[in-house]
Amino acid sequence: MASVKTEKVGIIGSGLIGRSWAMLFASVGYQVTVFDIVPQQVTDALADIKVQLKTLEKEGLLRGKLNADQQYQCIKGSSDLATAVRGAVFVQECVPENLDLKKKVYQNLDKVVDDKTILSSSTSTTLPSLFSENMKHRAQVIVSHPVNPPYYVPLVEIVPAPWTRKDVCEKTRSIMLEIGQAPVSLSREIDGFVLNRIQYAILNEVWRLVDSKVVNVEDIDKVISEGLGMRYAFLGSLETAHLNAEGMKSYIERYGETIHSVSQTMGEIPRMTTSKSADTICEQLNKMVPIERLQERRAWRDACLTRLALLKKEMEGKYKK
Ligand code: NAI
Repeated sequence: MASVKTEKVGIIGSGLIGRSWAMLFASVGYQVTVFDIVPQQVTDALADIKVQLKTLEKEGLLRGKLNADQQYQCIKGSSDLATAVRGAVFVQECVPENLDLKKKVYQNLDKVVDDKTILSSSTSTTLPSLFSENMKHRAQVIVSHPVNPPYYVPLVEIVPAPWTRKDVCEKTRSIMLEIGQAPVSLSREIDGFVLNRIQYAILNEVWRLVDSKVVNVEDIDKVISEGLGMRYAFLGSLETAHLNAEGMKSYIERYGETIHSVSQTMGEIPRMTTSKSADTICEQLNKMVPIERLQERRAWRDACLTRLALLKKEMEGKYKK
């Protein structure tokens, strides 16, 4: 039976990502308190969350077993950091990507938490060691990096600092599973984590191919959206390879040397900021999606992701492991 929990979760920063986390935690009944340095942001966030939950319910897309009103009742706002954090099992920090700001926020959190609360950051680029090193509670700090929009894209990268306690890593992973996300656990921190390292490797080769005029912007993006991406929505690159031959061993025998020799022709790492191709690439993209239509295109992307999330769920049930 659907029921609310007594455990508390604190959300620090109520922008785009903070709102999504609040909804995810409330979907399984956590008592969520949202804090923001700008009180009006909290008011706006609560109003926005209410609308989002109702819309999701109407469209049959609401997560969890509680209805929209029950989930909304699990979420409160606060203009006091200590109120949002004290006694919480988990705090998810969602302040802007700025190292000095993150350091300041974690120093403040350090003063108000006990030894149990997990302090988790949404950062997409900052290593957790950089903002937790001088903290008394640094063993409780970890990164849980979501992918936008987290309500439909479930991946969360869990990244420990060198001093993060093992039980903090494990508990974070189990909480992410509990709220319906798909956690991956890194054994140590590394620049770019995993998702962005892969994204950058793809972007680099895409840039080189357009830069050397092998293919234009519209066509190179089709290689992902109409080709690789179709499979990658369901299978990772290793399983894709495993299926593309008679197992991975046979894939290595067949393609291993070719992959190595083609990769050696890939050339230097492009530098977008000084590349001569930057203007042409921007121009072609602006023609494909004019800046004034970005919002419209984002809404279309999110609608596609919603449908894809449903399809993935349906298809998972059709393959018995
Ligand atoms: P945002 O700019 O939409 O929201 C940030 C919020 O933090 C604002 O409401 C702001 O008032 C508040 N804030 C600023 N200083 C604060 C403080 N000292 N204490 C409490 N609140 C404070 O930012 P967004 O996009 O939600 O990003 C938050 C974090 O999530 C960043 O670290 C970002 O890198 C990460 N992230 C963002 C993704 C995205 O696509 N937007 C995707 C994955 C991670």
